[in-house]
Parts: sequence; structure tokens; C-alpha cells
Amino acid sequence: MVSFTKLFTAGLVATTALAQPHAMHRSLHKAQKRSTSKRGAAYNDVSAVSSLTSSGTVSWAYNWAFSLDGNLPSGVDYVPMLWGAKFFGGWITGIESLLSSGSNYIMGFNEPDMSSQANMSPSEAAGYYNQYITPYSGSAKLISPSVTSSTDDGKGLSWFEEFMSDCSSCNITGLAVHWYGNSIDEFKSFVQQAVSTASNYNLPEVWVTEFALNSDVSGVTDQSSAADFVNQAVTWMDSQTNVTRYSYFMCADNYLLTNGALNTVGTAYTSTSD
Ligand SMILES: *[C@@H]1O[C@H](CO)[C@@H](O)[C@H](O)[C@H]1NC(C)=O
Ligand SMILES: *[C@@H]1O[C@H](CO)[C@@H](O)[C@H](O)[C@H]1NC(C)=O
Repeated sequence: MVSFTKLFTAGLVATTALAQPHAMHRSLHKAQKRSTSKRGAAYNDVSAVSSLTSSGTVSWAYNWAFSLDGNLPSGVDYVPMLWGAKFFGGWITGIESLLSSGSNYIMGFNEPDMSSQANMSPSEAAGYYNQYITPYSGSAKLISPSVTSSTDDGKGLSWFEEFMSDCSSCNITGLAVHWYGNSIDEFKSFVQQAVSTASNYNLPEVWVTEFALNSDVSGVTDQSSAADFVNQAVTWMDSQTNVTRYSYFMCADNYLLTNGALNTVGTAYTSTSD
């Protein structure tokens, strides 16, 4: 699923990352009380995150970038991502600073199977992964590029399989996937497929780092059906051992929040705990 929101996200992140090279690590405090939940906050605006994390059931956050863009609430792990080729400049300095401040996972490229996103062939991505991310496998766990739920040939999980055949020495720990679709049954079926694909490569972790109903990609259209979907998705993922982290798309107004506060969907997202 391509959305203008995500295109905008990428541009916003680019500006921020370039404009604030020194803002990267000032907010990684040692946690006082750390949630161990799988649940994350996918954000653009860092000031939106505390509404979600004050529930105590959200343990981590990411913003498609390797710069926090401000301060995260304490006890929330920041997970850096190398979005794609346009962020290679600045990566080494940025990631080394974040790793020394306590980040312990790195996420790979964003939807390389989409021409509007990181747009890389599996072999190209494997080369870049090896060059920019694998060298940190001694200090962090490495998550694959995040692929879409497209079932087109060469996209989605089939892109990932080709990637893994070129990246078998990349020291990857987990598969990251995105899902946009129409029902909870479709969602479960895709995530189950992802788990089984990951286990073919002995990867113990599957991360679902964007998910939402198609109707809600550009903002939730019906709070009650979105809340129902989120509640079922989250409850189910909490029961799946190999799904180790997930984040709904996204932690922002018109999605999990309204006027900066949890709405019905945000309440559904944060109210169950595993
Ligand atoms: C991959 O991990 C293994 C074991 O942790 C390590 O010995 C090896 O150096 C790593 N490979 C690279 C390319 O960093
Ligand atoms: C979960 O991951 C473990 C370790 O990779 C694997 O042995 C197991 O088969 C996986 N479970 C499923 C349901 O695929």
C-alpha cells in the first residue's frame, strides 16, 4: 500500500535528519520502569508519543529515521531505521551515536519492494544491508527491510525470500512486514504466512511495523470498526510467540489520537496487555 502520508513522512524525516544532526541522542534515558510489551508507537511528531506510552503498555517507538526528533518518554526504546539510499550520508555517525546511547535493534529499509518507497531490488538491498547494517550485528539485533503485504510476484514476502538468499550472512534476527487490507482474517492469515516464512530462515522474530485497515490509511474513517479491528489484531498478536513487536499506523492525530489524546482506537490499542 502506497500512501501520500508515507511519501510525506519520508520527506519530513529527511528535512529533520539533516537539520538537527545534534538532536539524536539527548533523550535516551535509562528506563525507570520498562514495559516488556510488544507494542510500539510509529510516529512523526515525537510530542504525540506520550499520550500513547502513558498507558504503560507501549515499550518502543520508531519514526522511520535515525533521529528521535526530540525526547521520548523515559522507558520507551527508540528503534532506529535506515529508510533507504537517500539517508546513507550521516548514517554511520548517527547510528553509532544511537547504539552508544542504548538502542539495541536496527531496522532495515522501508518498503524496498515499492517504487515510491525505498525501491531496491533484493540483491541491491542485500549489498547495502551488508555494507551499512550488518557491521553493527555485534552491538544490536538486526531487523530485515520491511516489506509490504503485496502478493504480486517479486513483492512482499517473495521479495524477502529473494533478499534472504542474497543476505544469508547478514546476521538478521527478524523479519519486518507491513499490512494494509480489509479484515482481521486477512490480517491473521498474512501474519501467519510471515511467521512461517521467517521460520524457514530460522529467524526467531517477526515485527509488524505498520498495519491498518485499507479504509484507515489516510486517517481513521470509522472509529468503532477501527477499534474493533485493532483490539482483535493486538490481542491475537500478543498470543503469537514469534510476533515480537508491532506498531499500528500510526501514532498521530486522526489515527490513534484526536487532538493529541487517545481516541477510541488509541484506547483499544493501549488497553490490552500481554
Ligand atoms: C555475524 O554474527 C556472528 C556470530 O555472532 C559473528 O561471528 C560474525 O562476525 C557476524 N558477521 C558479520 C559480517 O558481522
Ligand atoms: C517460531 O520460531 C521458532 C524459532 O525460529 C521456530 O522454531 C518455530 O517453528 C516458529 N513457530 C512457527 C509457528 O513458525
